[in-house]
Amino acid sequence: MDTEQMGADLEKVLLTQEQIWERLDELAEQIWADYAGKDLLLVGVLKGAVLVMADLMRALPGSVPMDWMAISSYGSGTKSSGVVRILKDLDTDITDKHVLIVEDIVDSGLTLSWIKANLASRRAASVEVCTLLRKPDAAKVEVDVKYVGFDIPNEFVVGYGLDYAEQYRNLRCVGTLAPHVYS
Ligand code: XMP
Ligand code: MG
Repeated sequence: MDTEQMGADLEKVLLTQEQIWERLDELAEQIWADYAGKDLLLVGVLKGAVLVMADLMRALPGSVPMDWMAISSYGSGTKSSGVVRILKDLDTDITDKHVLIVEDIVDSGLTLSWIKANLASRRAASVEVCTLLRKPDAAKVEVDVKYVGFDIPNEFVVGYGLDYAEQYRNLRCVGTLAPHVYS
């Protein structure tokens, strides 16, 4: 699939690359101030958070380490169940570290609350979350997300790391797909 085809498959663009970068710059500034003097570790959740991590960490005005987790949720259909299996664990011992989980999107919040609890149980000094996108359903679960890029409507979105059947992750914007893609 070439770039032209990716563009043709989009129904609408919700966020342009420029809007995303501008917001990540703001979040980076806030994060840098909040974690001044603290032992911060960024933890990305594969694979969706790859682009958020890349741009957020470059927006930080200093050096910060990162680590990655890969998980698989036993979902029934399209909704996640909150039951999670670790496919790739952290390389880092997070004892006494201030962990900031970097996510692409929080939908039901079930996956995230599992990850938060799991990391907190490893005696991290703190565990907070930064997500580029948040959907309305996230409000139903009591998962505290400290940094949110954008609240978006309850639509399936792709691009900027988010996929449909592993495609469209390398779209520079975030958008919805045209109906012809699903049929
Ligand atoms: P929770 O547990 O918060 O799950 O319901 C969040 C995960 O669900 C996926 N997800 C999406 N992926 N476009 C995507 O490409 C979307 O609009 C979308 N909404 C949820 C995603 O894997 C996320 O980590
Ligand atoms: Mg994800």
